[in-house]
Amino acid sequence: MQSVPTTLPDTLSPANWPEIPPVASLISECLGAGTGCQWCVPFLKHLHAQHKRGEEPDLKVSPERYQNARLKFHATEERDPSVVDDA
Ligand code: FES
Repeated sequence: MQSVPTTLPDTLSPANWPEIPPVASLISECLGAGTGCQWCVPFLKHLHAQHKRGEEPDLKVSPERYQNARLKFHATEERDPSVVDDA
């Protein structure tokens, strides 16, 4: 069984970004997934927008909910919009 992370990857911290990306699509770490499935795109846009506003990038959904929603997205190819809205 796949373990569920209790924290988001350190790569979300701007302190760990080699440079400040001018657009969200340049956040290449993909929240630790990197599969090319496009699941993370709205979340990366959200995190980038927070950073541009001078806020600490953060998602308001638990890592468990995020992971479960991503697994469901991979299985069904349908995104649960509530996860994006709640982030
Ligand atoms: S492309 Fe980022 S989670 Fe799949």
